[in-house]
Formats: sequence, structure tokens, C-alpha cells
Amino acid sequence: MLNPITDIRTKFQDIEVSPEWCFKNVRSTEQWTHGYHRYPAKFLPNIVKKLIEDLTNQEDVIADLFAGCGTTLVEAKVHGRKSIGVDINPVAQLITNAKINPIDPHILDEYSQKLIDSLDSYNEAEYQSIESHKRIDYWFFPEHKLKIAFLYSQILLLSTNENQLRDFFLCALSNILKNCSRWLQSSTKPQVDPKKSPVDPFKAFKVQVKSMKKKNDQFFYELSDKDLLETECDILIEDARTTSIKSESVSTIITSPPYVTSYEYADIHQLTAYWYEYISDLSMFRKNFIGTFYSLNQETVTSSFIGQDIINQLKEKDARTAKEVANYFNDMTEVGREMNRILKPGGHACLVIGNTTLKDVKIKSAEVFAEILQMLDFKLVDIIKRSIPVKLIPTIRDKKSGRFTKLTNKNSKLVYPEEYIIIAKK
Ligand SMILES: C[S@@+](CC[C@H](N)C(=O)[O-])C[C@H]1O[C@@H](n2cnc3c(N)ncnc32)[C@H](O)[C@@H]1O
Repeated sequence: MLNPITDIRTKFQDIEVSPEWCFKNVRSTEQWTHGYHRYPAKFLPNIVKKLIEDLTNQEDVIADLFAGCGTTLVEAKVHGRKSIGVDINPVAQLITNAKINPIDPHILDEYSQKLIDSLDSYNEAEYQSIESHKRIDYWFFPEHKLKIAFLYSQILLLSTNENQLRDFFLCALSNILKNCSRWLQSSTKPQVDPKKSPVDPFKAFKVQVKSMKKKNDQFFYELSDKDLLETECDILIEDARTTSIKSESVSTIITSPPYVTSYEYADIHQLTAYWYEYISDLSMFRKNFIGTFYSLNQETVTSSFIGQDIINQLKEKDARTAKEVANYFNDMTEVGREMNRILKPGGHACLVIGNTTLKDVKIKSAEVFAEILQMLDFKLVDIIKRSIPVKLIPTIRDKKSGRFTKLTNKNSKLVYPEEYIIIAKK
């Protein structure tokens, strides 16, 4: 018999791309409410849909411990499965809440019209004296800032028992903040574009609401026709390592963990986080994110053999990156333990993850996660390899800095054109 580590390595070497998981002919990923808000590295909904259809029954409970903008939860609801999501990021919770709770189209019509009409009463002079966080002053020109402050105050006039409407409009406003700011439009990372002419907030808001309304109506009628509007679906702001989800209460986990030092979600969502006062200090906000460049841990040891091999190679090149990757693998081991706790015996954990390269070392996260799951007594049921359409995920990194970049950059290098779906059984 092969030793389990060699076995995992061999398994990965032998896997061919599965065409039925590539969804090559998918033209749009924007069905239902999926397209409400941009979100880096969000799931292709078709993967979640296929996993739900292949692995779950009507009475099953589905969880996503890195719920992001709620792709798993939206798909679970439209399939009539109860679901629960967890994410450390309050912006993820806001977007997800807006997406999983469609509003009666007639009510939404009425409130959208009222809100849009109220923009006519805007008087810049009344807003001149508002106080705002210094980072808001950094990102926005005064005329745009004042209009956004007005819009925000109008949305907050909705009473607290109109939460679904509030979330809908706050989500709409959140998604236009980047366009209305000085943030370089083509960049996910925070970077000022000194030449940018930001979009007028009122104009952008009207367009955004119109587009979201269409999706809301489509999702609402789909759910009401199938009598699924009341399907339980919840999103919590919690840490994936220590959730409040009851032990052995979940049938299937469908999740895509953050990549290591790729997207700094705290930084990326700072405009919304400052405006909605989720944070006052970015460095505090960053602290509990997994896969962050700003982790405070100083580990260089991990329990996965494949992981340790990667860390040892990195140590030779760059001590800081070695620590970041070790922290990441250790955090993900804790998440694996938490998944084991919440899953019912016989339940499935499905992880979607790609490999990447840092400092010229291959970071084979998929192999490491497979090993971690096995160490935690999961049985590996299937490992699926799929190719990712380039338009759906940034696949280019700067070879020197390791950060995402454009193909036109001479240091650029393709990363995760393929990803894996690991299916393990408790
Ligand atoms: C790859 S994204 C998930 C995207 C999601 N599948 C979707 O379709 O929107 C990873 C998510 O992990 C979240 N995250 C990072 N650290 C976390 C932690 N400690 N606990 C829970 N969520 C965390 C990030 O906020 C981000 O939303």
C-alpha cells in the first residue's frame, strides 16, 4: 500500500480535467441575484448548483464557512435547501442578506420610486458641515462625498422593520462606491487614479437600483412559484474557525476558502466599511482574515507533510512569505476541524481551491487541504479538476511581488488557470 502522502501526490498527478465541471458554454454568471455586487474570487454558481444536485436532498442543511457574497446560499434557497453561511466580513453579510431575501416587486417598486424622487430634494449646502472619516475624504471628492452622504441618510430613513429594503438599497449604494471614488477603476487593490473622473452618485445609484430590481423580481417570482420564499437561510458574521453552528447539524459544506495573500478582503471592501461605520481602523479589521498578508502569527511549522515541504522551500527564498503560508495552512487546519464538528456523520465537505505560485514556489493548497482533511479522519471521495475560463478570475500575478497584475506587465505569470473541487466525507 502507498503511504497516504505519496498517495495524495499521485492522485493529483493523475487527475485529468473534467469537462462536465468546466461549464465552458456558460454565458452568464448573473442569474437570480448573483450579479448584485462585485466580489473578488466569487464562486461560479454552476459549481454550487451541480454539487447541490449531486450530493444533497430536499431536507438537507447546507453550510458555507467562507460565504463571501452568498453564492452558496442563493443556490441553496433556489433548490429549497436550508442553509447557513459564515463570513468574517460584515460587507459580505450585507451583500448576502440583500441577495437571499428578495422583496415583493410591487413593494420594491414603490420604495425605489420614493427614494429616487427624494434625490430631487438634495441641497448641497445642508450637507457641507457633515463629519466624515479621514479615509472617506481621501477617497472621494467633496461633491461626490456629499451626495453619497445624502443618499445614505435617505436609506437610513427606512424604519428598522424594513430591513430587507434597507439591505437592498445599502447593497446598491455599496456597489457604486468604487465608481464614484478616486479608486483606480481597473484595480481590485486600493490605488488612487489621479486622472479619474468619478461617476455621479445619483446617476450611478439609479442605474444600479434598476439593474438589481430586475434580478430581484426574477428571483422573487422563481421562489414564490416554487413556494420557497420562506426557506431558512441565514448569514452570520463569524470566524470560520470557531462558528456558533450546532455540532453535527449540517449535511453538506460547500465552500471556497480565501487564497493565500491574494485578495485582502478588508482593504478591498474599505469604502463600504468606512461609509457604513463597520470599522474605524483598517488594521483592526484585517486581523482575523485568513490568508492575509497582515497576519500577526510567526509560525513556520505545520502538521501537513506536503504543506511543510512547501514552507521549507519558501524559507530558502523569503522568510516572511514562508510564515504567511504556514499561518494559512494552520488556520485552514482549524477550519477543517470546525467542518468536522458541524457535519453530521456521513456528511460531505466540498472545497473549491486553486494552486498558486509565490516566490517561484508552487503553493499546492489543494493537495495540502486534501491531506489536512485526511488527517482529520475525513475520507476523500473525489477530487475534480476543472479549468477556469480566464474571464471569470484574474489569473495573472507579478512574478516579483506575487500580487495580481495585468497580462501586459512584463513580469506577469499565469496562475490558477485550473482549480480543484475536493469532496470529502465525514
Ligand atoms: C474566496 S472568498 C469566498 C467567495 C464565495 N464563495 C462567494 O461566492 O462569494 C473567501 C471569503 O473568506 C472570507 N474570510 C476570510 N477569513 C475568514 C475567516 N477567518 N472566517 C470567515 N470568513 C473568512 C473572506 O471575507 C471572503 O469573503
